Amino acid sequence: MSPIDKPSNPENEGGADQRNAGATEALGSRCSWDLTRRDFTKTAGVLTGGMVLGIPILSARALGDSKSVAANLMPVQLNINGQAHSLSLDPRVTLLDTLREHLALTGTKKGCDHGQCGACTVLVNGRRINSCLALAVAHQGDEITTIEGLAKGDELHPMQTAFLEHDGFQCGYCTPGQICSAVGLISEAKKGSVSSATPDLRKDEIELTADEIRERMSGNICRCGAYPGIVQAVQMVYRQS
Ligand code: FES
Ligand code: FES
Repeated sequence: MSPIDKPSNPENEGGADQRNAGATEALGSRCSWDLTRRDFTKTAGVLTGGMVLGIPILSARALGDSKSVAANLMPVQLNINGQAHSLSLDPRVTLLDTLREHLALTGTKKGCDHGQCGACTVLVNGRRINSCLALAVAHQGDEITTIEGLAKGDELHPMQTAFLEHDGFQCGYCTPGQICSAVGLISEAKKGSVSSATPDLRKDEIELTADEIRERMSGNICRCGAYPGIVQAVQMVYRQS
């Protein structure tokens, strides 16, 4: 009989002794759990102790890192949304990280961080760029405009209004980049810049067809598919401008 099996009639099959034996076995199984638990506790203690002992080593490393980071900092002047900012930056810091991490301008989004999605699009001297691919130090003296700088007080930029009217966004994560990109697109088209979708290169005026807009906005990806509304919004602003 298995020690944990209950006898059909305890009185006739060894009674209390057998029940004690069963209880001992049962306790035995709990004891083995206790040992396991103690082993676990010991192991955790060793690991925790190791971590505690590791703190001075990590601190020393962190200290070394922070010293070398401080040595690499350089003064950078940036003009963002009409406001001058004096910063001390590592020259390897991107414009995107500068906006988000150093200036709390988190309207500009980080999607891929590899120049693939357009979520980080900002305007530099009126031209759209991927701020994740731009070093902040390379843009001293430039006029940088982020999504926060498009509205004038409570008055939205016409492109922001058009996005609202045409449902140009769903989750909205890509929207700041889409809007900045669309603003840049309008000024490019107004200047007569052609794209690979322009049917007639001899015409002075660009007709912003849906194909033109799709091509010119192809660097901005919207994962939830608000493209039809975005195309309509861009067309509306282009017609009005
Ligand atoms: Fe810059 Fe995706 S975050 S292109
Ligand atoms: Fe662009 Fe959702 S609205 S990813």
